[in-house]
Amino acid sequence: MNTLKILVTGGNGQLGTTLKKTAPAGVDALYVDVDTLDITKPDDVMNFIASVRPGLIINAAAYTAVDKAESDENTAYRINCIGVANLANAAIKNHARILHVSTDFVFGGNSGRPYRPNDPINPLSVYGRTKAAGEQELRNILPQHSAIVRTAWLYSAVGSNFMKTILKLMTERDVLRVVSDQVGTPTGANTLAQVLWELAFRPQLTGIFHCTDAGVASWYDFALAIREEGESAGILSPDAGRVEPINTSDYPTPARRPYYSVLDKTSLWHELGITPIHWRRNLRNIIAELRSEK
Ligand SMILES: NC(=O)c1ccc[n+]([C@@H]2O[C@H](COP(=O)([O-])OP(=O)(O)OC[C@H]3O[C@@H](n4cnc5c(N)ncnc54)[C@H](OP(=O)(O)O)[C@@H]3O)[C@@H](O)[C@H]2O)c1
Repeated sequence: MNTLKILVTGGNGQLGTTLKKTAPAGVDALYVDVDTLDITKPDDVMNFIASVRPGLIINAAAYTAVDKAESDENTAYRINCIGVANLANAAIKNHARILHVSTDFVFGGNSGRPYRPNDPINPLSVYGRTKAAGEQELRNILPQHSAIVRTAWLYSAVGSNFMKTILKLMTERDVLRVVSDQVGTPTGANTLAQVLWELAFRPQLTGIFHCTDAGVASWYDFALAIREEGESAGILSPDAGRVEPINTSDYPTPARRPYYSVLDKTSLWHELGITPIHWRRNLRNIIAELRSEK
């Protein structure tokens, strides 16, 4: 049997690095980032994929600066939408599948229950709109040979993310004010990577899936938990900055974010037979990993 050759784009990002760290033994994967393959360049993408001939492309490349995107729409659109279309066109020519990663920010946040994969979308920001447009390109070009995995509030011991920002700010400030009226689910990049590796070898699973850790939290809850777990793990001192809740209206940002973006994961858990991990427990694991790497 031929080994599945996998190309991971955005290989130096938070998810790309986690995919590299968690790759199952024997996986034949090539990790590239923008310096080797800029997904916004259609000819480069076509030529690169024709020469590598992967059976599967995992697209971890994206424009993820949510607030910056409001004043840089063209770049965000080229990476999050055109880039996905370029990969899909090259995949169709070279008989490759695509696993693509998207976001809870495609939703508007007014649902009273967790969003299901086929619920109507209503992105509130440039970032959300460009990610939604990328989803649509993939579904138009390669519907039979692709899956979209939406995730949320991604963090890990590598890269820049909310957990690492909060840990740093707590050593610099006495008080951190964090919004308590936006609710979602903090998600370890390890959870998403594990799901992507599972999906890699299940070509029959197509369409949209939701993948986050279990449970819900506000950003304030998440920050408070980071404070507690950081202190228990010995990477924060007891006199580190304390956390206070504020409202979104007290902390205006260029991009609007959904008030409620919890994702319903049941179809993914069912398909893959996953035992979900609660976000708080995964936070403990990831802080332990961070401590061991220091
Ligand atoms: N982070 C979150 O909280 C979050 C939440 C929901 C969904 N997601 C989704 O999860 C996925 C992974 O996110 P992440 O946190 O790993 O993002 P990330 O750390 O920002 O990684 C994205 C990678 O893509 C690269 N890239 C940018 N433009 C490129 C281009 N034109 N061609 C090729 N590569 C390019 C980036 O390189 P540079 O750094 O050099 O630009 C970076 O290495 C994305 O699809 C994102 O939308 C993330």
